[in-house]
Amino acid sequence: MMKLTQQQVNAINYAEQAPACVTASAGSGKTFVLVEHIAKLISDVKNPVPADRLAAVTFTEKAAAELKQRLSQKVEELLKNNPDSDFLREQLVRLSSARISTISSFCLSLVRDNIRLLPDVDEGFEICDSTKADILSEKAEEKVFEHICADYSEEKRKTLFKKLGKKVSIMFSVK
Ligand SMILES: Nc1ncnc2c1ncn2[C@@H]1O[C@H](COP(=O)(O)OP(=O)(O)OP(=O)(O)O)[C@@H](O)[C@H]1O
Ligand SMILES: [Mg+2]
Repeated sequence: MMKLTQQQVNAINYAEQAPACVTASAGSGKTFVLVEHIAKLISDVKNPVPADRLAAVTFTEKAAAELKQRLSQKVEELLKNNPDSDFLREQLVRLSSARISTISSFCLSLVRDNIRLLPDVDEGFEICDSTKADILSEKAEEKVFEHICADYSEEKRKTLFKKLGKKVSIMFSVK
């Protein structure tokens, strides 16, 4: 049995309503702490969080898959030590529909599930890939410049481009 650090114990047992931020270096046990913390929340018989009400988001698909796999493994272990618990068995089933995904797919399902509340969003919307995003942002730039050239006086345009020029040179000098 590994010896947890005091910070890990604190993070696993964190029970405040306020948000918490846990940071630690690579490979030091962040996912481990997260798995233990979630397992504690969903296996608390007195005040359980229904496992299908969880939302855990990650940046990468790989991290989401790892979190899902390690969490199911943890609950399976709890069930092995407590084979008569219908409660844990049900939580394990519920866990398969928990929202453990990347931020992008979480947002996608949020928009899909609430599409009727968003009249400006086309029902056939899809996630933009990076090539399409580049094309769209170039089109948007062109529109902005067209707007500026059409609506701004020569004087205003000069001032704006001077300001932009200064910002860009500051950005480059910072880099
Ligand atoms: N206190 C500890 N003592 C010994 N081993 C530990 C301790 N805490 C976690 N570990 C083990 O360290 C390994 C790495 O843990 P984990 O994958 O959770 O780290 P991580 O911070 O999420 O890594 P990454 O930065 O790659 O995402 C795991 O095998 C985990 O069981
Ligand atoms: Mg990790």
